[in-house]
Amino acid sequence: MTTSSETQKLVVVTGDSTGMGASTARELARRGFHVLAGVRRDRDADAIRATGVEPVILDITKPEQVEALAARVAADSRTLHALVNNAGVQ
Ligand SMILES: NC(=O)c1ccc[n+]([C@@H]2O[C@H](COP(=O)([O-])OP(=O)(O)OC[C@H]3O[C@@H](n4cnc5c(N)ncnc54)[C@H](OP(=O)(O)O)[C@@H]3O)[C@@H](O)[C@H]2O)c1
Repeated sequence: MTTSSETQKLVVVTGDSTGMGASTARELARRGFHVLAGVRRDRDADAIRATGVEPVILDITKPEQVEALAARVAADSRTLHALVNNAGVQ
């Protein structure tokens, strides 16, 4: 059940184009969190965008993109509740 306090919570999930990252982003949004969903391509941003899922372009190996995300989080009025650092390769 979604509570008003959850809608005030920001979560970052990296690696959301597919797999567990995409599933985690969607499930957290379903539970009422606002998810900043990291993807590397515009087409993946379009695919993941949904209510409560806000795509951000993020390759975790690119410092300028990590810094841009940090600035995005710092500027948000909501509290950062969690970082799910899922991005990676098998
Ligand atoms: N599935 C398993 O059994 C298993 C077991 C142990 C650990 N893990 C770990 O769990 C995580 C997710 O697994 P999965 O099966 O869901 O993998 P997946 O379907 O291959 O998804 C990996 C995600 O990470 C992204 N990614 C890769 N390199 C990135 C980078 N430099 N910056 C940002 N995003 C990047 C990919 O984006 P692109 O589409 O842009 O490449 C994709 O969205 C991985 O870290 C994996 O190593 C998985």
